[in-house]
Amino acid sequence: MKINEALRETITAAGQEHLLRALDALPENEQADFAAQLENVDFNALPGLIADYVLKRPEVAIPDDLGPAPYYPLAPENDEQKQLYRDAVARGEEMIRAGRVACLTVAGGQGTRLGFDGPKGTFPIGPVTGRPLFAYFAGGIRRTQEKYGVKIVWYLMTSQLNHAQTVDFFKKNSYFGLDADQVFFFTQGTMPAIGYDGKLLMNSKKSLALSPDGHGGTLLALRKSGALDAMKRDGVDVISYFQVDNPLVPVIDPKFIGLHALTSSQMSAVMLAKTNAMEKLGNFCVSGGRLQIIEYSDLPKTLAEKTLPDGSLAFIPGSPAIHVIDRAFVEELTAGGKLQLPWHRADKKIPFLDAEGNLVSPETPNGVKLESFIFDALPLARRTMVLECDRAEVFAPTKNRTGVDSVDSCRAMLVDRDARRLAAAGVKIPRDAEGNCTALIEISPALAVDAGDVARLAAARGIVEIASGEKICLE
Ligand code: UD1
Repeated sequence: MKINEALRETITAAGQEHLLRALDALPENEQADFAAQLENVDFNALPGLIADYVLKRPEVAIPDDLGPAPYYPLAPENDEQKQLYRDAVARGEEMIRAGRVACLTVAGGQGTRLGFDGPKGTFPIGPVTGRPLFAYFAGGIRRTQEKYGVKIVWYLMTSQLNHAQTVDFFKKNSYFGLDADQVFFFTQGTMPAIGYDGKLLMNSKKSLALSPDGHGGTLLALRKSGALDAMKRDGVDVISYFQVDNPLVPVIDPKFIGLHALTSSQMSAVMLAKTNAMEKLGNFCVSGGRLQIIEYSDLPKTLAEKTLPDGSLAFIPGSPAIHVIDRAFVEELTAGGKLQLPWHRADKKIPFLDAEGNLVSPETPNGVKLESFIFDALPLARRTMVLECDRAEVFAPTKNRTGVDSVDSCRAMLVDRDARRLAAAGVKIPRDAEGNCTALIEISPALAVDAGDVARLAAARGIVEIASGEKICLE
């Protein structure tokens, strides 16, 4: 397959002739895939990106008026707020029942930190059964459907790196009890990795080194895949968004959905109080009256560590990356098939083909990957809303093998949540001196999404006590 002259000229003008040489060196019958990759790159925009993000290190601008963002607190502060939260639950439930809410999981990332070879959602996280991350979300969706008598579509974003494996995993597991037609897979875009010399890197003689374009790519991918049209056709106008690494997240939280609607927000966010100044959470900030998230790696230490007179952190609101987004807002942002969110630079060790055609795995970073972030859409919204939630009920990320935000801490939090719900139902739970549950408990997510579900389950199964060291799984 040939590429046309105009593209050849653009590639040359962008200083990337080495790619044309590589293409021309291939036998004609092996050129097609590489040519298709080249056609997919926006070579017109490339010189600007290289100048701004690769040849110089972009500074994250911290505005002078930057302050922590306001939020609706976990516990209502007055009667009016109490009533608002009650109304929010009622409104959210009404919206779910009317089929106006869909789920969206971003699962295109590479999960490098976890050191797991495979799509992250296939990681066996269940404390007793090792059920995979994907099964938690599918289970939550099944129980929510049953509760509200409605069919909920699950939009699942993959990347080119893990799409086939992900779809295959769902097929092999019979879609975890969902109907095949209610899991809508779509694939995010890619960005070429760029060497520090400004040249696009190749990872074989016929392939660019490509990586997912960040979860900011979700918005355009929703449009390009036809997901937005499908939502519109189905009467879905609100999207419940969460990350694949967090099995504790309620797949749809009626109060959060309802408050989003009652405040006429276009994009809303869950907020948690950060546990320490340097916790690896995005920071909710405001500047010029606009909500924005500043990534943990970008907030200057002086601001992160700033305290109020009572000793608490000034920049306390952290983001667990749980959002509610209006379908209409995504339509507005991606109208015309374009959306340019800011890029973020990540310095990486990128395997590349050297001048002699050998694949080299560098020991130190040798180039840049560019990603966009979905939360950069927050400042573009006319109205936003931030709601504080209880960490123990919503956030147990699986990012590392051990330690903070790890497989271990996630499993412990899943056990703890179920133990807490059983205890609230009157079941005796074994605990050590520090109050940690000393049994392994796992309740199928398809059976329970809240304390009420667990109470009914415990009563129906006649569970009154769990012994220390016991491994119990309620399926
Ligand atoms: C992310 C957030 C951070 C938040 C934290 C909560 C970013 C940049 N930061 O941090 O503000 O406090 O989660 O856990 O996201 N993904 C894709 N495609 C991509 C890149 C990522 O689908 O191209 C998905 C991943 O599969 C994952 C999620 O996005 O589900 C988060 O990505 P990750 O790189 O793990 O972000 P963190 O640095 O942990």
